[in-house]
Amino acid sequence: MSTFVTKGPIAEEQLSLFMLTVWVTFAVFIVVGGVFVYAVIKFRERPNDDRPMPSQGHGNPLVEIGLIGASILLLVIIAVPTLQAIWFTQDTPDDPESRLGSWYRGEGLAEEEAENPLIIKVIGYQWWWAFEYPQLGITTANEMVIPAGKVVHLELRSVDVIHSFWLPRIAGKVDLIPGRTNAMWIQAGDNFVKWKEKKGLAGEGPELRADYATYLKDEIHNYYYGQCAEFCGESHARMLFRATVVGDEAFTAWVADEKTGHATPDGKSWDEWYSAYDKNPEQLTGDLNDGLKLFMGRGKCATCHKVQGNPRALGVAGPNLTNVGSRQSIAAGWLNHRAEDGSIDIEQQYDNFYKWIHEPNVVKPGNLMWKANGGGIGELIDENGEPALLTEEEINKLSLYLQSLK
Ligand code: CUA
Repeated sequence: MSTFVTKGPIAEEQLSLFMLTVWVTFAVFIVVGGVFVYAVIKFRERPNDDRPMPSQGHGNPLVEIGLIGASILLLVIIAVPTLQAIWFTQDTPDDPESRLGSWYRGEGLAEEEAENPLIIKVIGYQWWWAFEYPQLGITTANEMVIPAGKVVHLELRSVDVIHSFWLPRIAGKVDLIPGRTNAMWIQAGDNFVKWKEKKGLAGEGPELRADYATYLKDEIHNYYYGQCAEFCGESHARMLFRATVVGDEAFTAWVADEKTGHATPDGKSWDEWYSAYDKNPEQLTGDLNDGLKLFMGRGKCATCHKVQGNPRALGVAGPNLTNVGSRQSIAAGWLNHRAEDGSIDIEQQYDNFYKWIHEPNVVKPGNLMWKANGGGIGELIDENGEPALLTEEEINKLSLYLQSLK
C-alpha cells in the first residue's frame, strides 16, 4: 500500500505534489535550521567571555517584509500545483480509447453508455464497500475489478457515516459523505498515448500496440490493496478493499460471469429447487443443498445478501455475494485467503468463512450481521423463543456452500 509505487496518472500526480511540498518544506527547514545553528555556534557564551550582551532589537522592517514575501511565494509555489491537481483529479477526461464502447466486448450497452467511460458507484457502509457498475447492471462488494489502462469514473456515496476511498498505488483519497455524491476518476496504468510519450516512441501500428499490451500485462495487471481512510466507527481499521486490474477480455468475461450468477447446487432449475424446498426440503440432500437451505432459511442470509441467479436471495443491506467464492478475501478484506502465488488457499478460505459466520462480532466488532434488530445471527432463536445460534455442523455447511459460489 505504498504511495511511492505509482500505477496510474492520479497516483503519479499526487506523488509529484507530495514531493514538491517535501522539497519546499525541506528548503525552509535548511534555511531556518541553518540560521539557528549559525547563531547558536557564533554567539554562544564562552568561558571567560567578557563580550557585552548584543543589542536586543526587534522589528527590522526589511527582514519582516522579506520573510512575509518569502512565505507568500512559497505558499503560491505549493498552492498553484495543488489546485491544478484537485481539478485534474475531479474532471474525468474524455479519452476516446477509454469509452466503454471502444473496449468492452460484452452485450447490452445502451448507445449513450458506449460514449462514457466505465462508471463505478462506490458506496460506503459500516464496514464494507459496495461497487455498482450501473452501465453493466452488476454489483459486487469489497473487491472491485477494473480494466487496465482505461479511465474509470467513480461516484462516491455513503449510506451511514463519512468514509474515504484510498487505493494508494492508483489513487486517493476522496471522502464518501452521506447525502452527497463526490466524484473522482482512477486509471490503473497509462493509456497508449501517455505510454508512448514516456517511452519516447511515436506512431501507430500492431507492434507498438503489442508492446503496450505487454506493458499493461507485466506492470499493471495485479491485485491492489485499498483501505478506508476516514475514521468511521469501531471497525474502521477493518474496512479494507481490493482492486483487481485485468485486461479487456478478462474484464468482459468477469462481467458475463457476474451477470449469469449461480445455478442450484444439484443442477435443478431454480423453480424446481424452490418447489421442492417449499413442499419438502428433506428431498434436497447433500452438503451444498443443506448449505443453501440454511442460507435461505434458518441462517437468514438471504434477508440481507443478494446472490445473482437465485430468485429469492435479494437482500441489499449486506454485501452482494455473487461469486464470493472467487474473491480472495472476505469481511471487507479483513480475512484474507490469497496465497502468495495469487491463487485462493482453499483451506484458509474455508476457515475464514467458518470464523466469520461463527463469530462475526469478534472478527468485526459492531457489525450488523451479528446484531441487526432481531435479524442478526447473534439473535437466532428456536421455535420456543430460546437463543439458538448456528451449530458447528450448520456453519460447516454454510461455509461449504459459500465457497461453492464461484
Ligand atoms: Cu469507513 Cu473508516
